[in-house]
Amino acid sequence: MLSGKEVAKHNSRDSCWIIVHGHVYDVTEFLDDHPGGSKIILKYAGKDATEEYDPIHPPDAITTNLPPEKHLGPVEPDTVERVEVEVTDEEKARLARIAARPPLSTILNLHDFEAIARQVMADKAWAYYSSAADDEITNRENHAAYHRIWFRPRVLRDVTEVDFATTILGHKSSMPIYITATALGKLGHPDGELNLTRAAGKHGVIQMIPTLASCSFDDIVDAALPGQVQFFQLYVNKDRKITKRIVQHAEKRGIKGLFITVDAPQLGRREKDMRMKFDAEDPSEVTQAGSEGVDRSQGAARAISSFIDPGLNWDDLKWFKSITTMPLILKGVQCWEDALEAYDRGLAGVVLSNHGGRQLDFARSGIEVLVEVVDKLKEKRGLTFPHEKFQLFCDGGVRRATDVLKAIALGATAVGIGRPFLYAYSAYGPEGMDRALEILHSEFEMNMRLLGAPTIKHVVPSMVDTSNIHTHIVAVPTDKLYDLNYESLQHAMLKEVKSKL
Ligand SMILES: Cc1cc2nc3c(=O)[nH]c(=O)nc-3n(C[C@H](O)[C@H](O)[C@H](O)COP(=O)(O)O)c2cc1C
Repeated sequence: MLSGKEVAKHNSRDSCWIIVHGHVYDVTEFLDDHPGGSKIILKYAGKDATEEYDPIHPPDAITTNLPPEKHLGPVEPDTVERVEVEVTDEEKARLARIAARPPLSTILNLHDFEAIARQVMADKAWAYYSSAADDEITNRENHAAYHRIWFRPRVLRDVTEVDFATTILGHKSSMPIYITATALGKLGHPDGELNLTRAAGKHGVIQMIPTLASCSFDDIVDAALPGQVQFFQLYVNKDRKITKRIVQHAEKRGIKGLFITVDAPQLGRREKDMRMKFDAEDPSEVTQAGSEGVDRSQGAARAISSFIDPGLNWDDLKWFKSITTMPLILKGVQCWEDALEAYDRGLAGVVLSNHGGRQLDFARSGIEVLVEVVDKLKEKRGLTFPHEKFQLFCDGGVRRATDVLKAIALGATAVGIGRPFLYAYSAYGPEGMDRALEILHSEFEMNMRLLGAPTIKHVVPSMVDTSNIHTHIVAVPTDKLYDLNYESLQHAMLKEVKSKL
């Protein structure tokens, strides 16, 4: 076992050792390849980097990226000096804002969480969670598209009791929503994805575990209650042996649905995230790194996802069926032709999604695609929805139970919600998650009554008017709550000007 004293000697570019989770790694040769730049590693040279490492890396990032001979073994815990983290003025100001959060009882809707999260989250975390691709047109459209669907409620129906429980891929859910997969959960809160697991168990909804979680897959599964259903989102690795191991392990651990992400052969350009990196780095270092062929400007997200296989194609689906009996669902389908192909190939469903606007800008919203998919699958294959054997899901921009009910009326089995839950726990921890799910619960109850729908089965296509869905024009003024939260993109700025802002 190594001593902290020995590790501390390797504190330079010539010999750089770091400690992560009680193990020592020699990262000297990796310094220039680190997607986050060498500077941040050198800050922890000879020291314990766990606290810095944890939120922005999946747990196995270091072990999979460093050759085994660079794993130097465990360190004697008592001999490691604590790293003094300097509290900057910005951080002090942020801590003051955290102390000034309004009580949870004043949080009335999911937008409120976003408004608070934006003010209290660390800049890096906010940039990663809130960012979307290019001009963020799709990100905003995801939300705006719901404004082009209006209700046709029914009256004089007995709505004394309303029941919005449903089944998703045959499993009970207390509401027609699920917590969709979002990477790097610890950026917002030290417990990361476990906040979602615990809340999902408590409130009877299903969590989709991401491949790039910051907690380990097993820890997330272990945190579930007995019988709690979980799905898994899969990024397919170029090395199929790794994918096979992950998939079969997920099945062994009781995962009930495999959602294969198909909209990310390369990660989109998320400029808020990228600018944050430029701010954090010495710009000269970034240029230098670029000239060495390592483009650090793309942010941690791209770096940790470089294993994703852009060669993934329809023919691979047979192989997936041969390695697992879990239902297979494609996440990120964006037109009826691909939904039909998925049906014809015997998949269990598709998620109509553009990855929260983080991939192809000007991809249409999931809810708009849902309308055409339902139409065309009826025309081409005689299907009606909801359909037990081939289920439709959508996600993106969902912030109200009314949004969800529109999708349900159109034929979706359930709807995925991403950022609002991240903001809820980033701003308020586990209690924030409770509040977010309670808010949705009471919104469902009221809106089902007002729609004249005692159960989910009563939420039918004739209850919505979608005649404007494809027009892509939003009435002005748009949604005040959303517009107040939406943070517009910045331009590049002169150095001096920037430092004064
Ligand atoms: C911070 C963040 C990380 C995400 N990570 C993943 C991921 O690792 N895999 C994936 O398939 N989708 C990922 N998504 C997309 C979500 O699963 C989902 O499609 C999207 O968040 C829905 O939009 P919403 O955030 O407006 O609810 C991510 C989204 C966000 C916001």
